[in-house]
Amino acid sequence: MAQESGGSTPTAADIIQFVDRDLDLFEAINDGTESHLEGSESLPPVEPLTKAWDVAYVRFSVPDLDLYERWVEDFGLKIVHRDEDSIYSRGIGGDGFCHVAHKGPAKFLGFAMMMSKEEDLHILSENIAGCTEVHDIPGIEGEISGGKRVSFIDPVCNLLIEAVHGREIDPLPPSRERIEYNYGDKIHYKRPANKLQDTSGNREVDGSNTVHPGPPDVLKIGHVVLTIPVGPHHQMMSFMMETFGLLPSDSVYFESPKSAEGHSINPQMFDSLQKAGPSPLYHGTFAEGEATFACFFRCDRGEVPTDHHTFFILSLMDQRQAPEGQGINPQLSHASFEVSNLDDVWRGHMQLKTKAEYLDERYEIAWGVGRHVLGSHIYDYWHDPYGHVHEHMSDGDRMTRSFGQRIHKISGMGPNGHNQWGPTVADSGIRNLDGPAAASFYEDLDKETQQSLVNRDLANVQDLVRRIRNSS
Ligand SMILES: [Fe+2]
Repeated sequence: MAQESGGSTPTAADIIQFVDRDLDLFEAINDGTESHLEGSESLPPVEPLTKAWDVAYVRFSVPDLDLYERWVEDFGLKIVHRDEDSIYSRGIGGDGFCHVAHKGPAKFLGFAMMMSKEEDLHILSENIAGCTEVHDIPGIEGEISGGKRVSFIDPVCNLLIEAVHGREIDPLPPSRERIEYNYGDKIHYKRPANKLQDTSGNREVDGSNTVHPGPPDVLKIGHVVLTIPVGPHHQMMSFMMETFGLLPSDSVYFESPKSAEGHSINPQMFDSLQKAGPSPLYHGTFAEGEATFACFFRCDRGEVPTDHHTFFILSLMDQRQAPEGQGINPQLSHASFEVSNLDDVWRGHMQLKTKAEYLDERYEIAWGVGRHVLGSHIYDYWHDPYGHVHEHMSDGDRMTRSFGQRIHKISGMGPNGHNQWGPTVADSGIRNLDGPAAASFYEDLDKETQQSLVNRDLANVQDLVRRIRNSS
């Protein structure tokens, strides 16, 4: 937690493990309601500084770049630059690099938002405490995709947040042809006769089927998800809405403690959420004290369709994410990257599974493959070699400003792991998205690496952060 944020962070003694098993959470979400509040007027009455267009990239610091290079390539990102200090990777789209790993202590450093107007960078520079001047993106980062940027350390989570404009890179051709699915009826598309399905381009290589299909093409970064202690999680929702104009698409709330009876969730969770209220999202629609547990945010592109979520905040009550002697800290839940279709999600799953099982790579499944309800996307989550979850996703919902927002009681999400289809509740591993300490191999990492991963203090990466920020 940022040192400057004062006494709002729960201490270790305040933290409760709100569910011991995922089943408790899913059992508790059996029987609730959801509301679709349509139209712009249902959205929080925020006058934002800017309106971000998308997310641009995520930055990590990792001790072993060789190990991490293998991860990046196995995941399906394309490396555009590698030297002894850094790895820059991209999807095949034209927006510039979308993933950065610097050599240094293991840590999630932060993320960048993509702005559609240069003017927005100036507004941020003038209005956000500690924000840099607007500058051309320098060095190798400028050589890769050009553009301008500003950066600041956010006041809630102590992350390095950047805003960029005007980055461009030539798109790459896809590795494989577009898949033509046979829908099996006369109304929808049927694949032409005599055309054999070859989803991986390896069907008849050398007259056999022995060539491993390899990773999918990542198209672009899809969304960033933070998991934040109760209380600060509301503050970060407000900060992102007020700073970047994000709009809530789907949020999940818990009723106030008086209605906790009958739930299998620990009533202490309701107490914690009650202390955090009121939610910044509902502006009088719901009763005081009804705190938001999680919210998916989309960008405000007006009536131009955008992804159901570009940013997502989850509340965090997981003791594993607390450095020794401290309360729990905000963590990266996961960074998500879009691929073309279901075949590509499974191709990624099998690439990572194969490398973990046969080559002992430190990759670990977190949750997948399945299709969510909120956002509708097909998902597959994996821990990278330092426990940071990366997601392959495909076929998510798209919406505009006038969609408004949907609000769900936690008891309205269904008992099936909140899937349209996918793993059983026991296999769902939602707790695996709480942060890097959820990876089973976290305990095997050396103490210094463990502390660096879960501590949001930037002291041990200060030089690196200074170099990134002052490279103007
Ligand atoms: Fe996701």
